Amino acid sequence: MLNMGGPSTVAETHDFLKNLFSDHDLIPLPFQRILAPLIAKRRTPRIEAQYEEIGGGSPILKYTQLQGEGMAKLLDELHPQTAPHKSYVAFRYARPLAEETARQMKADGVKRAVAFSQYPQYSCSTTGSSLNDLYRRGKSGQFGSDVEWSVIDRWGTHSGFIEAVTQRVAAALAKFPASTRADTVILFSAHSLPMSIVNRGDPYVLEVSASVAAVMEQLGHSNSYRLVWQSQVGPSAWMGMQTSEALKGLARLGKKQVVLVPIAFTSDHIETLYELDLEYSKEAREHGIEVHRAESLNDSPVFVRALSNIVAEHLRGCESGRGNVSVQLKLRCPGCTTATCGQQKAWFERGGR
Ligand code: FES
Repeated sequence: MLNMGGPSTVAETHDFLKNLFSDHDLIPLPFQRILAPLIAKRRTPRIEAQYEEIGGGSPILKYTQLQGEGMAKLLDELHPQTAPHKSYVAFRYARPLAEETARQMKADGVKRAVAFSQYPQYSCSTTGSSLNDLYRRGKSGQFGSDVEWSVIDRWGTHSGFIEAVTQRVAAALAKFPASTRADTVILFSAHSLPMSIVNRGDPYVLEVSASVAAVMEQLGHSNSYRLVWQSQVGPSAWMGMQTSEALKGLARLGKKQVVLVPIAFTSDHIETLYELDLEYSKEAREHGIEVHRAESLNDSPVFVRALSNIVAEHLRGCESGRGNVSVQLKLRCPGCTTATCGQQKAWFERGGR
């Protein structure tokens, strides 16, 4: 289960930031090796304080483990041919990093593995970065020899995922009085991307939009909505409109009720618990808007079932000769200049060989 991860304790914040700013697939910086440690060091005190405020660390590992255990148990029933199933977590910037997970998988003698991105929508800066990392480690034998790999790279419109999100949105909408519920604006918020990534042909913006459209379809288009973008860092241009600006703009337009929906992350983490709940919601209230946030999927049984269905469908597809990777994964961004992306795609397509 691949994800960016988050520091489980405040003390892990610096290493998390250093890993994050060192990742050229996520944040392309000039002189990255020199700049990344400097930026991480400068940002650490502020981000540590944010983790303190949300309870002393990120809950993303706890939820990913819960989801993985539930998923593996259901999979044993849904796809007994490949049982027993076991889930491993490989985070890109926090423990357990892929290096640690590879050691564990090797010690367990794993021979068949599914690289399952926990980002529902694909971006080369998130899922692509994790796959590049797995490829480098897999190629050098860190996971052991003769491991057969396949990839689940995107599932942003899978019916189970959409159902789980829709349930959370409906529950948040229900917090408003029935008489004014229809006047509530649904504001979907996704992590933004630098425009340099968007403009090289990254599919993320399109795929997040598709998730939003599917949720609204499921809700019967009961409310007006927008998709906005959060968590921009640094002075370069990022995908907008920014979530905080959108809330202020809605206040200016006289809107009084908003449901905020995290649409591109499945578990709680600092962007939901700090940015959406403590920062943006507080600002919105100061501007006279009542905000309810749709709960993250976390331990939603509907979501855990969706995860197991996604894997079962994938395994059936592999058996029926549909290949180890999706058709879409095979295509590099038209503006891609990273040779590793091409090598990684070919390696996974050959089953990790
Ligand atoms: Fe998208 Fe390389 S950046 S395939």
